[in-house]
Amino acid sequence: MQDVDRLDAARALLRWYADAGVDEAVAAEPVDRFRNDQPAAAPARSASASVTRIARPSQPSADEAASLAAAIAAACDSHEDLAAAVAAFDGCPLKAGARNTVFSDGIPGAALLIIGEAPGRDEDAAGKPFVGRAGGLLDRMLAAIGRSRMSDALITNVVYWRPPGNRAPTQAEIAVCRPFVDRLIELTTPKAIMLAGGVPLQAMTGVAGITRARGVWRDVTLPSGKTYPVLPVFHPAFLLRQPAHKRLAWKDLQTLAAGLRDA
Ligand code: URA
Repeated sequence: MQDVDRLDAARALLRWYADAGVDEAVAAEPVDRFRNDQPAAAPARSASASVTRIARPSQPSADEAASLAAAIAAACDSHEDLAAAVAAFDGCPLKAGARNTVFSDGIPGAALLIIGEAPGRDEDAAGKPFVGRAGGLLDRMLAAIGRSRMSDALITNVVYWRPPGNRAPTQAEIAVCRPFVDRLIELTTPKAIMLAGGVPLQAMTGVAGITRARGVWRDVTLPSGKTYPVLPVFHPAFLLRQPAHKRLAWKDLQTLAAGLRDA
């Protein structure tokens, strides 16, 4: 294992403990209990005397962080401002375990916006969304309808930092990032939004179940009152695992292309 991987793994483990509510250690120094010359166990002391508290940096609640995110996002008038504001934002606990902020890749203001789930290992290392194997398939899916992140598509996720161990982002993590996602949509004013997978489907529409929802246009209304058309499709990582579903994904891409043509 390389040093960076070890650091990554240690951060993910610490975050996992913190998420599980573990914020205390029983002693300040580690004890090797396999050594023979250990002193006899000391008589039990009261819990308050033997427990050393680990100072936890004060973290706002998810509601507070989401309100802060909303105020910051509202003040951003350009894609660049918003990208810088997200990178400077410390209200999402995922950031502590991530190497990079992964905000977007592609063309600001593009007619097609793709919203995925969360950065994975490759995206965390590169600081760009969808650069791993799933990203390769996403690029081929876009190419199939004559689109590309190099010319006429913008790609983002519902959270901007890699969840530890590639777990799905929690509702709270999604809620904290949501004002930035909404503002990105408003600044992009896309003609169509592709929701890649069940997580962005649920995050943006409240609907669960990508298998039933895929391929059918819906409207998403933002807190500003503006409405945008979204099309849920299978996530490319799912398609890599279940290639038989590419047939349905192909159909959905034709629906997406037609929606973009007619908009
Ligand atoms: N999967 C996603 O949903 N987003 C990424 O950026 C990469 C993989």
